[in-house]
Amino acid sequence: MTTINNSSGGIDMSAYWLPFTPNRYFQHHPKIMQSAKGAYYYDDHGRKLFDGLSGLWCSPLGHADPRIGAAIQKQFETMDYCPAFQMASETAFRLASRIAKMAPAGLDKVFFTNSGSEAVDTALKIAIGYHRVMGNASRTRLIGRDRAYHGVGIAGISVGGMVANRKMFASMMMPGVDHLPHTLNLSQMAFSRGQPKWGAHLAEELEKIVTLHDANTIAAVIMEPVQGSTGVIVPPDGYLQKIREICTKHGILLIFDEVITGFGRLGANFGADRFGVTPDMITFAKGITNGVIPMGGVIVRGDIYDSIITNGGQEQSIEFFHGYTYSGHPIPAAAGHAVLDIFESDDLVNRARALEPVLEDGLHALKGKSGILDIRNFGLSGAVELDPVPGKPGLRSMKVLEACIEKGALVRVAGDAIAAGPPFISTPEEVQFLCSVLGEAIDVAMQIK
Ligand SMILES: Cc1ncc(COP(=O)(O)O)c(C=O)c1O
Repeated sequence: MTTINNSSGGIDMSAYWLPFTPNRYFQHHPKIMQSAKGAYYYDDHGRKLFDGLSGLWCSPLGHADPRIGAAIQKQFETMDYCPAFQMASETAFRLASRIAKMAPAGLDKVFFTNSGSEAVDTALKIAIGYHRVMGNASRTRLIGRDRAYHGVGIAGISVGGMVANRKMFASMMMPGVDHLPHTLNLSQMAFSRGQPKWGAHLAEELEKIVTLHDANTIAAVIMEPVQGSTGVIVPPDGYLQKIREICTKHGILLIFDEVITGFGRLGANFGADRFGVTPDMITFAKGITNGVIPMGGVIVRGDIYDSIITNGGQEQSIEFFHGYTYSGHPIPAAAGHAVLDIFESDDLVNRARALEPVLEDGLHALKGKSGILDIRNFGLSGAVELDPVPGKPGLRSMKVLEACIEKGALVRVAGDAIAAGPPFISTPEEVQFLCSVLGEAIDVAMQIK
């Protein structure tokens, strides 16, 4: 049995298989968080850690906001669960309406899931189902992108472009999936502030895929407006607009996976709003409940819903054979209402927008330090790409994380990049602190050869 001694008297680490974690390394370098309040975590060494990634991009309001706790408690006492199929709670209906109102015009139907991975699966199934009911059953091909992260379902890893997430499961990949190239090219755009000027032409790769396969075989393109999990890859100026044009021209649905970028991270309700590009569906999760309790979903163009529903056979027939036991669960829905109330009352999207230049300046001030290959940022998110230790990918960034913890902040390791995405409730001084800790931690990690 592997145990670690800490202030809570020792933890048996033998049973818990940690997700997306080097488990062997963790056993020797455990990172145990014990409590969280506001923009800070407190670990088992008694350290106070500024939450530089808002949990896992999911806690923009900071932690333990009593207004969310109270809403959950109240809903628990009123109705702790409602069967998701054939019935629904009023809370879920009201939340769907609120989300639809926040979304770009025309996207006014909401299908609830429990996670981003399920939201991605759901959106892809809606795309295939829509084309089928429209008499275009040949439109089954799905297009993702290199370096994309769309969760861990079979569909998500198939359209995803992170090699490590796919390699072990190669035999399970869905057929009929193509990938666009990613847009990160350090020789053209290193150290860009905001959107890189170079790279809109990469959208033309979609035309090549359409020519190769014929538009009539393609159901949807899915992409994160800003690729988050592979280190905040910001779309070049004009790129998303071109992708939209090509999709529209060929009748291909465009899905924005906004699991990270939705609910304010880019200083607007959705990335779609910030970039001025309206997709046909938006997937969301994380921020909708501030990470307090799982919930995700898909926001869908009204006529896609109408087409599936009106082609659903007799009125008593189910039109779309898909759903989860916890779709529209009243407790996360209540948390979602509290979160959206707080967004409004505390003006949080604008606060995120106001912090954007602080993060941008703080990160770009690190330029010139040894070992930094790139610094990039957009909205209240950014990343620093490190020169890895030869033959040991990810080691230097892990050391940066550990040095940051020593110095009082949490960041996220994304391969050889370090990502930052502080809570919207942060003060400018806290964001500056995060950036200076990151700089010091990079100096420490550069000592590893
Ligand atoms: C863009 C994107 N899609 C999907 C997911 C998967 O979400 P979940 O971990 O809730 O399944 C994530 C998670 O980080 C994500 O960033």
